[in-house]
Amino acid sequence: MMRAKIVSTGSYLPEKTLTNRDLEQMVDTSDEWITQRTGIKVRHIASDGEATSDLAYKAALDALNNANVDSMDIDAIIVATVTPDKPLPATALFVQEKLGAKNAFGFDINAACSGFMYALSVADGYVRSNLAEKVLVIGAETLSRITDYKDRSTCVIFADGAACVLLEKTDEENKGILGIKLHSDGGYTDLMQVPAMGSLNPCTKQAIDNRDIYIKMKGNETFKMSIRSIMDVSREVLSDLDMDFEDVDLMIPHQANKRIIEGVAKRAKLPDEKVVITIDKHANTSAASIPLALDWANKNGKIKQGDTILLNSFGASLTWSAAVIRW
Ligand code: COA
Repeated sequence: MMRAKIVSTGSYLPEKTLTNRDLEQMVDTSDEWITQRTGIKVRHIASDGEATSDLAYKAALDALNNANVDSMDIDAIIVATVTPDKPLPATALFVQEKLGAKNAFGFDINAACSGFMYALSVADGYVRSNLAEKVLVIGAETLSRITDYKDRSTCVIFADGAACVLLEKTDEENKGILGIKLHSDGGYTDLMQVPAMGSLNPCTKQAIDNRDIYIKMKGNETFKMSIRSIMDVSREVLSDLDMDFEDVDLMIPHQANKRIIEGVAKRAKLPDEKVVITIDKHANTSAASIPLALDWANKNGKIKQGDTILLNSFGASLTWSAAVIRW
C-alpha cells in the first residue's frame, strides 16, 4: 500500500533566549513557579525583523540538507502557523521564495497548537492521492509577537521556533503515516484567543490600548480539558489500527505543559523513556512544538527504524489530534 513517510526532519530556534530569571525582572513570577507549574526553563525569541518565514526557511533548509534533496524537487510547502509574516500572502510563499522552490505550490494552515498535525494530514492526503510526491510540512511560530509581556499567565509559556518534516511517497510495507485523527470544537473559542487584529476587531488604537492584540488565555479551564481529549483521540487512532498504548515505542506530544504530558503518560502507562519532553528548552511554540520535539528526538538518537511513534496535540480553541507513524 502506498503511504507518506517522513524521510527527514529539520529545525531552527532563534539565537536570543529568555530565561525564567529574565521573566522575574519583567512580571511578578518566579523560576520556582514556572518550573513547577509548566516545566519550562528557557524560551527562544525571534529578534526584531526576524519573521516566521525566516525561521521556517531555516528549518526547511535543514530538512532538505538532511535528506540531500534539492528545493526544486519539492511539490508542495505547507506552513502551519498562527503568526504569519503578514495576513496576506501566505507565509509558505515567502518560504518558497527563500528556498527557491520554484516547482512547488504553497499555503498556510491555522489550527493553533494542532496546526502541524492538520498540515501533516493534508500532506499525507496529497502524497497518497498523487497530487504531490515531496512535501515540506512546517510548523513555525513567532508567538513573542502576540504575547503580552505584562501578563504573567501567558508570557511565561510561549516562545518562537520552527521545524519541518519532508514527506515522501513510500511503498515499504507498514512504514510511514499509518493513521491520523483530527478534532475541533468551536464552542470554546473564548478559552484562548487574540481578540483583535482580525475582521471582527481590526487593529485600532483602542485595541492596542486594551492589549487586545495579544493572546488571552483561560489557562486553567484549558488545562482541565486537555488530558482527557489527548487520551481520547490517541485511543481512537490506535484502536483504528488495532493497536494500544502498549504498542507505542515513543510518544511525541505537543509541549504545552509538562504536567499535561505527564498526566497523559501516566494514564497511558508509558514510562519516561517512551515520552519526549522538550518543553524545558523550547517552551510552548504552538504549531512548531511537535515537529521541534520530533526533530530533537531524531537528532538525539531516540528514534529507531521500525519504531511506532504516537504524536498527539491539544490546542486553541479547541483543536486536538493524534497520529501514528512507523519510522
Ligand atoms: N507566576 C506566578 N503565579 C502565577 C503565574 C506566574 N507566571 N501565572 C499565574 N499565576 C497564579 C495565578 O494568578 C493564580 O493565583 P491565585 O491562586 O492567587 O489566583 C495561581 O497562580 C494559579 O493560577 P492558575 O491559572 O490556576 O494556574 P495553573 O496551575 O492552571 O497554571 C497554566 C497555569 C497556564 C500554566 C496552566 O493552566 C496551563 O498550562 N494551561 C494549559 C495551557 C494550554 O494547554 N493551552 C492551550 C494549548 S497552547
